[in-house]
Amino acid sequence: MAHFNPAQAQPLEPLLDLVDVDITRGKRQLLCNLNLAFNAGEFIALAGENGCGKSSLLTVLGGLAPLEKGTLSFNGQPLSEISLQRLADYRAVMAQSASTPFGFLVDEILQLARHHIVESPANRHHIIGEIAEQFDITHLLSRNIQTLSGGERQRVFLSKAILQLLPISSHDSLEGKLLLLDEPTSALDLRHQKLVMQQLVSLSQQGLCIVCVSHDLNLISPYCSRMILLAEQGCIADDKPENALTIDTLARCYHTQLNLIRNLDNDVFVTH
Ligand SMILES: Nc1ncnc2c1ncn2[C@@H]1O[C@H](COP(=O)(O)OP(=O)(O)O)[C@@H](O)[C@H]1O
Ligand SMILES: [Mg+2]
Repeated sequence: MAHFNPAQAQPLEPLLDLVDVDITRGKRQLLCNLNLAFNAGEFIALAGENGCGKSSLLTVLGGLAPLEKGTLSFNGQPLSEISLQRLADYRAVMAQSASTPFGFLVDEILQLARHHIVESPANRHHIIGEIAEQFDITHLLSRNIQTLSGGERQRVFLSKAILQLLPISSHDSLEGKLLLLDEPTSALDLRHQKLVMQQLVSLSQQGLCIVCVSHDLNLISPYCSRMILLAEQGCIADDKPENALTIDTLARCYHTQLNLIRNLDNDVFVTH
């Protein structure tokens, strides 16, 4: 296993570089010859119809599923050569239906997220407290995870993924780190949707690269820096959201006629 040292990466090298990748599940080829590069500080929305391969792609990007064809490098090094233990410092994944079969307390789950980080108990307590505050779960810390609502649970697992990546000191950058989120806002009310989007923008401004699967294009497009639409076994749009979303790309993506409204800030909203 090669030693992973992000400091050795070239500054202009993408954080994550996917070249000629195929993804097959069962007998279906989902994605074919996919080429994508992700950079530090980007907040990328990933969208596409049910079953097009968004979650499958995310597991490949996170190193949780093997590559069948193509190459995937992270900070200039083949992802498959980086041990999962080492990878834990640099990329976190929030799965689509994140849950636990055991009745852990929320605080215990958040502590587990930082088991690979050497830090004082006081530091850990402080960082968990700050994130709990930011994601409005402070009042849930002593609750059993299995008794939470879907939206409450989503905020806990999102906090857990972020806590896995946060440095010991808030002065350290999040550059070189990757957060992969699979529909993290699907169960959230409007206040918490907005709160989560604002927090994700703030993290990306600190250098974190975020890839977020979402069906809620109207929620995410004003916040994300880039939008990727998957269809026809590949990427049919990859641009700023106001350019990626057109009547044509939406029709190719969702196989139905949708309309677009543009506001004075050039934000684009999809309507039926
Ligand atoms: N292990 C598997 N075996 C067979 N089919 C699978 C497997 N995992 C996913 N699929 C199928 O692959 C397609 C893509 O799944 P997924 O990546 O979860 O889609 P989505 O874009 O909705 O996240 C779906 O049709 C799903 O049923
Ligand atoms: Mg999915």
